[in-house]
Amino acid sequence: MGRTGGTMRMSEISELISRHRQGYSLEQAFYVSPQIFEMDIERIYRRHWLLAGPACRVAQAGDYFTYQIAGDSIVILRDELGNIRAHHNVCRHRGSRICLDEQGHAKRLVCPYHNWAYDLNGALCSARHLPESVDQSSLGLHPVAVRVVAGLIFICIASDPPEFGATAADLIEYLAPHGLERTTICRREVEIIRANWKVVAENFWECYHCASTHPEFCSVMSYAHAQNNERLADERREFERDWETATQQLGHKVGRVEFSDRGLHQGGRLPIRPGFVTQSRDGQPVAPLLGEYTQFDGGITSFMHLPLIWYVVSNDHALLTRFTPVSPLETELELTWLVRSDAVAGRDYDPDAVCWLWRVTAEQDKTICENNQRGIMSSRYQPGPYTTAESSVNDLVEWYLQELSRND
Ligand code: FES
Ligand SMILES: [Fe+2]
Repeated sequence: MGRTGGTMRMSEISELISRHRQGYSLEQAFYVSPQIFEMDIERIYRRHWLLAGPACRVAQAGDYFTYQIAGDSIVILRDELGNIRAHHNVCRHRGSRICLDEQGHAKRLVCPYHNWAYDLNGALCSARHLPESVDQSSLGLHPVAVRVVAGLIFICIASDPPEFGATAADLIEYLAPHGLERTTICRREVEIIRANWKVVAENFWECYHCASTHPEFCSVMSYAHAQNNERLADERREFERDWETATQQLGHKVGRVEFSDRGLHQGGRLPIRPGFVTQSRDGQPVAPLLGEYTQFDGGITSFMHLPLIWYVVSNDHALLTRFTPVSPLETELELTWLVRSDAVAGRDYDPDAVCWLWRVTAEQDKTICENNQRGIMSSRYQPGPYTTAESSVNDLVEWYLQELSRND
């Protein structure tokens, strides 16, 4: 693996962090080294809140799905009382995986090895031949912190999770009108992007590449071309002003939350383009209105959270993306499209029409991320300067290096 070959010592990683040149992309080792990947998992993914999926994925008591993050498998389920819980998918007997399927329905979680059984709340309820002297109540599944906010399930593997209240408050304010807790999955797709998660993250934190890569996206979102053309930028500003006024008159939410000390997130509402009421090929509705909406306002609500969570909600459908590091050179991308819970495919919506924009856009992003990774693996790669259109990528990289350097 060229100059990053072999095992890196902690001192070498610290040296790489300290010599990072501000305003530039990272050195090659950050995108390829197994040791740095391990640190990323430990210091980023096992420390911060992550999006696990929509609450509608566990609509009924006993529904569960598993989420694999590096070595950890988490079972996310709805218990008998309707609460969403998360447990480590590790038997307290000799450690077998318990739920082997990606999703399912169960009254109890039964380990396939020696059949120890756990309640949905994680308590051990059956363990044949367990000596009386062993306290069964101390052998519950290890819990994982969960917050369900506006229909989205967030989990944190850390035993002492960071504060999430300010983020939750912002999400409720912006997402509540969309009624994501009353949705159903239109389609869910999982694919592997053959690139380090930070290559993928950098790509998703900027739209500098949009004009050259995403013709469909640019045909839907008029801000993309406006970034590169003064006249279009003026038109876009005027359009945004008019849209805000009209949207407020409808009583709908407008505004933005900037990446700030309120949490590791940014987002808000913005308009699509003149004449478009949703993110579809022709701008016309593709599904029944979500939540409290009684009419289209032509806006979207989107949020990004560090380390790498992003979702976008139109008036009639939503897309959640979940990115998960798999190995130094692989990142899993899960795309989940949501529509109103009572909508019926074929009658109320055409799944291909709902998924069109982000299916094609995600495929293009996969290609450019994989090309980026291949170039980074070259012996001639060196960090390059971020442009003024990539300031959010610079923020991401600075945050990442700070997290890696934290000693707590
Ligand atoms: S490892 Fe689960 S019952 Fe033995
Ligand atoms: Fe993109």
